[in-house]
Parts: sequence; C-alpha cells; structure tokens
Amino acid sequence: MVKFLGQNEAINIDQELFNEYKFSVDQLMELAGLSCAVAIAKCYPISDLRDSNILVFCGPGNNGGDGLVCARHLKLFGYCPSVYYPKRTEKPLYQNLTTQCQAMAVPFLEDAPTAEALNKNYSLLVDALFGFSFRPPMREEFVSVVDAIKKSGVPLCSVDIPSGWDVEDGAPESGGLEPDLLISLTAPKKCAEKFRGRFHYLGGRFVPPALEKKYDLKLPKYPGTEVCVKL
Ligand SMILES: *[C@@H]1O[C@H](CO)[C@@H](O)[C@H](O)[C@H]1NC(C)=O
Ligand SMILES: *[C@@H]1O[C@H](CO)[C@@H](O)[C@H](O)[C@H]1NC(C)=O
Repeated sequence: MVKFLGQNEAINIDQELFNEYKFSVDQLMELAGLSCAVAIAKCYPISDLRDSNILVFCGPGNNGGDGLVCARHLKLFGYCPSVYYPKRTEKPLYQNLTTQCQAMAVPFLEDAPTAEALNKNYSLLVDALFGFSFRPPMREEFVSVVDAIKKSGVPLCSVDIPSGWDVEDGAPESGGLEPDLLISLTAPKKCAEKFRGRFHYLGGRFVPPALEKKYDLKLPKYPGTEVCVKL
C-alpha cells in the first residue's frame, strides 16, 4: 500500500519541505527524533530496560541529529541513553543538540566501543549514522564502528536506513546491519522492502497533505495523536 521511495525522490521531498513549505531543519529533526524515541519505547518498554544502557550512534549529518534528539527524548522517558558521536560538525544546531544532551546528563563516549564492550554493557543500540542521502562507500572510520555493532549481537534500531545499506538496493553483498527495529522517516525508502527485523515503524508525522498527494505517498493513517505508526 504505502509507497517506498527511491533516493532522488526522498531528496526531492526533503528539499520541498524546506524550500516550499518553509520548515527549518531543527523543526523536522525534533519531530523525527521524537518519533524514533516513541517507536523505541513501544518496542522495548521501559519496564524491561529501566536499568539498562542504550547506546546511540550518531553520524556526521542529519541522521546523527535525529539520533541526538532521540537520545534526549529517551532520557526524558526514563531510559539510560549514552551517545557515541565521533565526527561532530561545527554547525550551531548540532552544537546545541549536543549541549542539550550533555546538560541532561547523557554521557558521550570518547572512544569507539568494541563489539565485546557493546555486548557487555548495552541492551540496545540505536544506529543514527547515515540516512537517505548516503552513497557508498562508507568512510573508513565508520566501517569499523558498523562492524562492531554487527559483531556485538546487541538488538539494533536503525533510524530511517540501516547504515551501510544502499538506500534502494538494501544490504551490501558482504552482509550489513540487520536491525530488529527500523523507523522509516517521512516515508519508507526502497531498501525497507528488504528489512527482515521484527518491527517496522513510520515516523516523522509532518508531511503536508498536498505534498503526500503530489508524490502519491499513500501514507498509513496515524492513530489518534500518535507520532509513529506500525507498518
Ligand atoms: C558502560 O556504559 C556506560 C554508559 O555509556 C559508560 O559510562 C561506562 O563507561 C561503560 N562501562 C564499560 C566498562 O564499558
Ligand atoms: C543555538 O543556541 C543559541 C543560543 O541559545 C541560539 O541563539 C541559536 O539560535 C541556536 N541555533 C540553532 C541553529 O539552533
């Protein structure tokens, strides 16, 4: 029913939200990150994870910003998130999002965690490394991060795209991340048809009806006032 977007279509819709509808990046990032935190809370209830650590991996771009917002909301929901954010940008928005997390006592890891460390210390990982604008190959420094996530065997939630997957074709032939939860944002991308995890949610409830119609998105109906919906 719902349409799965190609990469260029996803980029065009994003541009239109900014250029025609005059949204700002931080507005959409806040709603996207909030919907990720809510989807996570639905799939991994706080009653199971109250005293467990969650690690949010944030990449250098917008997907990483969604991750920072998600971490902040997880903290407000009572979870214990930490952030690994190795490649920070100087942009004020990202500095502000980082400060907000730090001011809320969300720890930032300095060193890349090994697969063993992830396995010992975390019950859930959130992959906010790369999103719908990703084009392979992945930068060398992130290859080992993704490998550690994969080797750890800790349940994984991916924000919008499982990092390292081709946005349209899915996992690389060498094998990629296999998230337990995928939260598609705005509309699912073509690679999401190959998702085999337990939970697939749609978040980012900000698409104006005229835009939905123009791109024939056929979005599912969000129940009531929910910010995410199960696909
Ligand atoms: C476990 O995780 C917490 C939170 O991220 C961190 O502060 C601590 O250093 C970690 N401990 C080990 C042994 O890795
Ligand atoms: C970052 O925070 C400063 C200080 O509150 C504020 O003036 C600025 O507008 C913020 N920038 C962005 C992009 O959010």
